[in-house]
Amino acid sequence: MASRRGAGKQARRRPDTTPDTPLQEGPQRLQKILAHAGIASRRKAEVYILGGRVTINGATVSELGVKADPSRDHIKVDGKLLRQPRDHIYLALNKPRECVTTVSDPKGRRTVMHLVSSLRRRVYPVGRLDYNSEGLLLMTDDGEFAARIMSPASRVPKTYQVKVNGTLTVEQEERFRGGIPLHGRRTAPAELKLIRPGRNPWYEVTITEGRRHQVRNMFKSLGRLVEKLKRVRIGFVNLGDLAPGDYRLLTPAEVARFRKLSGMDRKKKDAPNESGDR
Ligand code: URA
Repeated sequence: MASRRGAGKQARRRPDTTPDTPLQEGPQRLQKILAHAGIASRRKAEVYILGGRVTINGATVSELGVKADPSRDHIKVDGKLLRQPRDHIYLALNKPRECVTTVSDPKGRRTVMHLVSSLRRRVYPVGRLDYNSEGLLLMTDDGEFAARIMSPASRVPKTYQVKVNGTLTVEQEERFRGGIPLHGRRTAPAELKLIRPGRNPWYEVTITEGRRHQVRNMFKSLGRLVEKLKRVRIGFVNLGDLAPGDYRLLTPAEVARFRKLSGMDRKKKDAPNESGDR
């Protein structure tokens, strides 16, 4: 919970966009192609190749060192066509407080776009965090990915650490967990844990929706005001030690895992089966 104000300026990473963004053009080693597509780590991809599970244009490859051109060749793993991730970029950003999660702000306030201005790519926030909220925010130029992660149907869990102006009773905690009617519709079941007791306690809250001011309004409906709100996890990605204002690229494996978690690949018959890869 310690404040890291200022750390962002000093430690701002300018990520090398080469390794995780488009695979170089032309022939590449097969294990690199599989890893880039998020199928498995390079080491594990080598095991797949040696096990005869990979084909290029119908021919089984069972030795290492073979190259293929992912834009031309048909590469299959366990008989399923490899779908190359399109030329998209995915970031995990630590949004600081007093920063708007929009592309532009009519009031001229700082937006998350300022924090990623060094990128040569235009990315957009996936969902939002309030002006005074901080923490993990995904950004991408992949509209389908963003829509899936934001969709309540995907039920991607988001975890927040929240400082509140008073403790909830046991009965209020149960109501919070069971769902709070907000604007005529009850919120989905939530997780709630007291993580730091006191006059102004901290709770950890996990919800699967992303309704406007949802966590603040859930506490408000129980007579409590949120004083601080920090998102610490989305799905399986933790905020970790990213300093406020800093960002990092999601790895291809993380992107693939998000696609799986949000059901993006479910309708695509030709997507390789990722089970057991991580
Ligand atoms: N819930 C809120 O109330 N605010 C946020 O910023 C995120 C979740």
